[in-house]
Amino acid sequence: MLIIGCPWTDYERPPAPGWVRTDGGRIAEVGHGSPPPPAPGEEHLGHPDAVIVPGFTDAHLHLPQFHQRGVEAGDLLQWLEDAILPAEARWADPAHARVEAEAALRAMLRAGTVRAAAFLSPHPTAIEATLGASARVPLDLLAGVPLMDREAPPELLQPAGSPPEPPESLEHDRFRISINPRFAVSCTDAMLATAGRLGAAATGRFVHTHLAEQQAECRRVAELFPGDPSYTAVYDRFGLLHRRTLLAHAIHLSPEEWDLIAHREAVVVHCPGANTFLGSGVMDLAAARSRGVRVALGSDVAAGPDLSMPRVARAMLESAGVRRRLIDPDAVVPTPAEAWRIFTEGNAAAIGRPDAGRLAVGARADLLVLRPDEPLDEHAAGRLLYAWDEQWITDRVVNGRQVGQ
Ligand code: GUN
Ligand code: ZN
Repeated sequence: MLIIGCPWTDYERPPAPGWVRTDGGRIAEVGHGSPPPPAPGEEHLGHPDAVIVPGFTDAHLHLPQFHQRGVEAGDLLQWLEDAILPAEARWADPAHARVEAEAALRAMLRAGTVRAAAFLSPHPTAIEATLGASARVPLDLLAGVPLMDREAPPELLQPAGSPPEPPESLEHDRFRISINPRFAVSCTDAMLATAGRLGAAATGRFVHTHLAEQQAECRRVAELFPGDPSYTAVYDRFGLLHRRTLLAHAIHLSPEEWDLIAHREAVVVHCPGANTFLGSGVMDLAAARSRGVRVALGSDVAAGPDLSMPRVARAMLESAGVRRRLIDPDAVVPTPAEAWRIFTEGNAAAIGRPDAGRLAVGARADLLVLRPDEPLDEHAAGRLLYAWDEQWITDRVVNGRQVGQ
């Protein structure tokens, strides 16, 4: 396929005219200058003034929660009980789960997201429902069921000793299963031990969980695990912290906990939209940066109201700016160009796809064609982030194929 437009390979500079050629599911050519004519019979799309960007990756969200965005129900623990767990319970019906999963994936693709690390519902059937949906709406997914064996309605609990093994036979190149202990509040030692076995570093699997989002949650963890020095240390005791661990939120952490995350090389998934909606706090990007901790970005739908990654990135810049002005003069405020790198190649690499999120030969051919109505000058990264409009997306290419809406 030949795609005409300005391939945006350096977010510090304005995109320049050129083309991208794909072959199967990979990028075969990235050219600058006048595009070649399509080869006989070659599919082609785009426009000389269009901008070609990598499709976006969302490093943390919950598929069964799409219809709970904007539902206010108190703090995190109350909101989970009143608004979220009942919505997840409805996924017990696999037909309902499949319809909701497909609608969620469609909404994500409409927003430009081609890849995600997702929480499903606690039902083992949620995996098959989501797999079925992803066959129709072909996002690249890392998906896991939230493991819980306490502090949730009985129908959502799983026995810690015999939780479902991840059905590896269902996995394929664009559908991987992760191990998702929901958070320490909802997991006994026995469940965390099981998660630690299923998600141990040596298995090559990803672990995906929540960490230190709100203070009441942290206090509950301290009550439930009185023998552990910190919330982060609880996960570490079960071997749950390693290079393939995604820790959503990571707001209320001590310097020692940050050091431990850095030492284990785990990824912190910053969810700024969710943190504002639930009033959780503002993540300390400087603590991560000073220790070299990788920071990914997640919408965290439904705590996060916005599933569009440029909007989530804007929330990151805005909340970091507030932190710097009001809380901490040394706070790190990423530049718009850094934000673009995070929700394209950074997020993709963080969830195990270092060959995605980039316009480069050999990279996965998951990309978007945009027709922005903003000037594309040296401020392009900021303009396209702050004025972002998903209506600019004229074409979505996923796994080397153009996908419609
Ligand atoms: N902590 C545990 N579960 C959840 C969830 O579903 N959403 C958010 N934002 N935090 C959580
Ligand atoms: Zn979450």
